[in-house]
Amino acid sequence: MRTLDNDRFLRALKRQPVDYTPTWMMRQAGRYLPEYRESRKKARDFMALCRNPELCCEVTLQPLARYGLDAAILFSDILTIPDAMGLGLRFVEGEGPVFDRPVRDERAIAQLPVPDPNVELRYVMDAVTTIRAALGNRLPLIGFSGSPWTLATYMVEGAGGSDFVTIKRMGYDAPELLDSLLAKLAASVSLYLEAQLAAGADALMVFDTWGGVLAPDDYLRFSLQPMAKIVAHLKRVAPEVPVILFTKNGGQHLEAMADTGCDALGLDWTTDLGAARARVGSRVALQGNLDPAWLFAGPAKIEAAVARTLASYGPGPGHVFNLGHGILPTTPPEHAAAMIEAVRRLSPAYHRAD
Ligand code: CP3
Repeated sequence: MRTLDNDRFLRALKRQPVDYTPTWMMRQAGRYLPEYRESRKKARDFMALCRNPELCCEVTLQPLARYGLDAAILFSDILTIPDAMGLGLRFVEGEGPVFDRPVRDERAIAQLPVPDPNVELRYVMDAVTTIRAALGNRLPLIGFSGSPWTLATYMVEGAGGSDFVTIKRMGYDAPELLDSLLAKLAASVSLYLEAQLAAGADALMVFDTWGGVLAPDDYLRFSLQPMAKIVAHLKRVAPEVPVILFTKNGGQHLEAMADTGCDALGLDWTTDLGAARARVGSRVALQGNLDPAWLFAGPAKIEAAVARTLASYGPGPGHVFNLGHGILPTTPPEHAAAMIEAVRRLSPAYHRAD
């Protein structure tokens, strides 16, 4: 493994001692930053930005220049895989992602290719390489993918943000068909994440944004089981690389998630951090979990919320501070600074060796 100047994030994921609680923010490079909005104008649209390794690198570094963050995250999107499968991805202003050719039947699923990450997704690997070179050995770089279930929701529904009736009907009427789509996605994600490691990522995170909309037994079959296959693959090819699983609204599944053999679980704010630690803290590190809406409160209130989050986890290693979901586009950037500075100031008390 690479020797890094700042390895607090990687140490915390392995539940090793650190001097303060490492911090990063989901969507830390994004629209709340004026410098991101400037860079974004240089690209024709959002996917053109993702396809340009130099611009990806530029925006990845922007939050690191502003804040004392302990990790960088690759600037890309989870929908790169379905795009590479040929579904015709477009981001419609004000509506979010849309696929021109959703997959809804056996034929469409059977015809889906498993993309070669070094061919169809070469632009992502080039971004990782470019960012790695720019970071040098300063900070760890997080690679990521969407979970098979979360990718499938967009691929089958054809767009985001619905009641998920189309994909749920497939899961109820033809569960083996949905299993076959998820198996293809699990294979694609495994190769994609492995390639990101080879290109220079230090840790990997799987975003399961929509696992929490499933009933518990459906979650285990359609969301967790494909993620478990990915973890098993990564642990086979790169056992030392930390893997983080994040199911939004997945608080009831923490034990089952830890059983996959992953290193850390991301938590949203609806799960109590201290209670989660009591359940699975001897097996995995925990990442989270301040409600991103806290960053609209005043700096003194933000500091108090940070203090409560740190106290909820309690003393000792194994905590990575983060928001419970992505930072919101209208967040005042100086409020993010207040949060990060509060973690830096208040967390050393939880890491004293006595
Ligand atoms: O954290 C980071 O800084 C890394 C970059 C990152 C982006 N998307 C950049 C982005 C990551 C990790 C993602 C993941 C992602 N993308 C998820 C899972 C994340 C989670 O929080 O659970 C999902 C569901 C997507 C799909 C997606 N991409 C949506 C719903 C949108 C928003 C569309 C809109 O118009 O509001 C995107 C676009 C996107 N991805 C933006 C960014 C910064 C904004 C695009 C812009 O600049 O216009």
